[in-house]
Amino acid sequence: MQIETSPQKRHEIEADVEIVCVIDKNLDHPWVEEKDLLTMAGFEGGQDETCLIMEKRRIYVGCDSLHHDDIRSAYAAAIRALRKTKAEHVRTGLYLGKCSAQNIKAMAEGMVFGDYEYDTYKTEKAKHPVKKVTISCEDFNGKSVDCDKAKGYVETSVIVAQATNYTRNIVNTPPDDMTPEMLALKAIALAEANDLECIVLDEKGLEAENMGAFLAVSRASDHPPRLVHLAYKPQNALYKVALVGKGLTYDSGGLSLKPAEYMVTMKSDKSGACAVLGIMKAVSELKLPIEVHGIIGATENMIGGNAYKPDDVLTAKNGTTIEIRNTDAEGRLVLADCLCYAQEKVKPDYLLDYATLTGACVVALGEYTTGLMGHDRTLKHGFSKAATNAGELTGTLHFNRYLKKLLKSDIADVCNISSSRYGGAITAALFLDHFIEKEYKHKWLHLDIAGPAYVEKPWGYNPAGASGAGVRMTVKWFEQIIKQAKKEEPASGH
Ligand code: BES
Ligand code: ZN
Ligand code: ZN
Repeated sequence: MQIETSPQKRHEIEADVEIVCVIDKNLDHPWVEEKDLLTMAGFEGGQDETCLIMEKRRIYVGCDSLHHDDIRSAYAAAIRALRKTKAEHVRTGLYLGKCSAQNIKAMAEGMVFGDYEYDTYKTEKAKHPVKKVTISCEDFNGKSVDCDKAKGYVETSVIVAQATNYTRNIVNTPPDDMTPEMLALKAIALAEANDLECIVLDEKGLEAENMGAFLAVSRASDHPPRLVHLAYKPQNALYKVALVGKGLTYDSGGLSLKPAEYMVTMKSDKSGACAVLGIMKAVSELKLPIEVHGIIGATENMIGGNAYKPDDVLTAKNGTTIEIRNTDAEGRLVLADCLCYAQEKVKPDYLLDYATLTGACVVALGEYTTGLMGHDRTLKHGFSKAATNAGELTGTLHFNRYLKKLLKSDIADVCNISSSRYGGAITAALFLDHFIEKEYKHKWLHLDIAGPAYVEKPWGYNPAGASGAGVRMTVKWFEQIIKQAKKEEPASGH
């Protein structure tokens, strides 16, 4: 689907159908030309409610307000409804609110999301009749926008939405088709297409890096582990950021085996790694002035004669010894080594990690919200603001000294699980904290995406399955820190 902008008025654009938004149930707006027909059809204009009047070449969609979240959702619903038709060329006006840029971006993003379906394994493929959408830059409620600027906003948001869909596709791929090796090949393909640097470590490489925790998790799998290190290095970089992703292509729980009903969906335990890939794709296509490193720990957590065990003691890359009491708390072990690697090799200004780390995070915040954790209040606050602006939900979970003590081990430096059944999202993050060097404490942010990364029922404009959680919020945060850096830069030439 191609999205273009035009200086022409809506009526001047030839198209098969027009998407008309009904804002706040207001059927008296001049753009709503079929009030009587809509009323007859029982259309009330509730959020995401659609009414197709093909004779008039219009599809109406309800939108509670001009807030970008509502706009994004309404456009996704409209495109989804049009997928049942044969409409190829669609036109629409611009529904401008407080921030024009945000609404234009939400429109384009919503449309790309509305067109998404994971059908790789379906014999009958999904239909995508809409080939082109033309957005008219006609004034709305006396508000106008520069058409060239609108074009730029559309291009940016299409890149980000497509990167999100790219992440969704990899997460949705079944575990036997997306093994650690395959995930590494995906990264290599991305590096080639987008001109990124790429290093891949196999078991020998992991041994050479003393990654005893990562290696133990991978031991019982027939599919060998991979560490992927991607780098995007623009000339004009304002910051250096390292992103670390948990890439469990399957988490059976290991010897602390998951019950059958909890094991289903564990192909999604690679969502952190896939988010990192999506972010690398987006930043390189947007050519953002930030050096970004993406580090992925890809492995399976399986059972077998050589599996790592509860009672084992492992030694991580930084020399910390870890008592294993539950092999299902494996993500933190892989991340521990990858975080050490990121600090040593990249020496970043910011260090972010993405992981479907704990069921406890889902209990705490619900399925739709990412858990944000870290030592730096400003960083957490700035990031959560960016997430909100990007249309993603976050909730901050706070550290405290008492929870930290629950990770004490009698025989090793730290235990891989807490001694209490409560506060599991935070204690998992506090475990990771053991692998963050002093100078990086305030540069580190941990994102537990166990809830939103994969939900089995559709929610809003997100389909059932993978959502691509983490991609949009991070790109938005990058844009935010770039803007900030440019503001703080002393004026040149004076
Ligand atoms: N991958 C899971 C966490 C998870 C749960 C992700 C549900 C997505 C949905 C993780 O490896 C895990 O099993 N964590 C355990 C930790 C426990 C053993 C301390 C958990 O959350 O139960
Ligand atoms: Zn697990
Ligand atoms: Zn896991």
